[in-house]
Amino acid sequence: MYKIYTETLFVGKETIFLPVCHSTNTELNQLLKKQEKVFEGTVVITDSQTAGRGQVGNSWEAELGKNLTFSVLFYPSFLSSKDQFFLPIFTSLAIVEALKEYGCFSIKWPNDIYIENKKLGGILIENNLHGQVIEHSIVGIGLNINQEFFKEKKAVSLKMILQNDLSLEIVLKNILESLEQYYLVLKSGNQDFLKKRYLSYLYKYEQLHFFKIKEEIVEGIIKGIDENGKLIVQINGKLNSYGIKEISFL
Ligand code: BTN
Repeated sequence: MYKIYTETLFVGKETIFLPVCHSTNTELNQLLKKQEKVFEGTVVITDSQTAGRGQVGNSWEAELGKNLTFSVLFYPSFLSSKDQFFLPIFTSLAIVEALKEYGCFSIKWPNDIYIENKKLGGILIENNLHGQVIEHSIVGIGLNINQEFFKEKKAVSLKMILQNDLSLEIVLKNILESLEQYYLVLKSGNQDFLKKRYLSYLYKYEQLHFFKIKEEIVEGIIKGIDENGKLIVQINGKLNSYGIKEISFL
């Protein structure tokens, strides 16, 4: 059970706690189908997901009650579907800023939360589009807080970094408040500000790094993101843009 009193206008004002569920993203989606009105900012949170979903069809694992696994509902009808990549931008920015007191986190494109070369958290955003309009967006967030052992060798938790247990409620409150702040920046139309700030946290930005592109290993430098949210990488002096399924970091 979570007792959170967020100092927000709408994010976290409605919170649904499920001790166990398949996936908080799926639960929120089902709620939207069966309930006429679901308030913007509604949070679905669980202690245990039996079928937690990650990006590109991966699964998401978290030990019972040790980590944060939750989803937040937004209605970003002000955003055109071609600009939907600003949703992972505002979300990842809100998270790294909310976690500042625990360490220097970075954002691995498009929206993994990293510290050095380890992954602390991931985001799965599922949008419902109607033509050019985004009708709703389910922002699913998984953050490793108090878990100490992972199958995935790149995974890290706040406990592993800080050597002590943290209150899930406090971290959640900070994140929800930050999410609302950054969502309101997005709503105000200040996309340039968000993009600049996002780049300031971008993992391996302006650094030479190895990538895998179409089964080939190449060395390149991340130069930014293009107008579709694709990653711009300079390879042999040439700039190319890549989507999530087209490039992986080595
Ligand atoms: C990734 O890095 O692959 C994204 C992981 C997203 C996991 C979260 S946990 C809460 C929400 N519910 C899900 O099934 N997935 C997201």
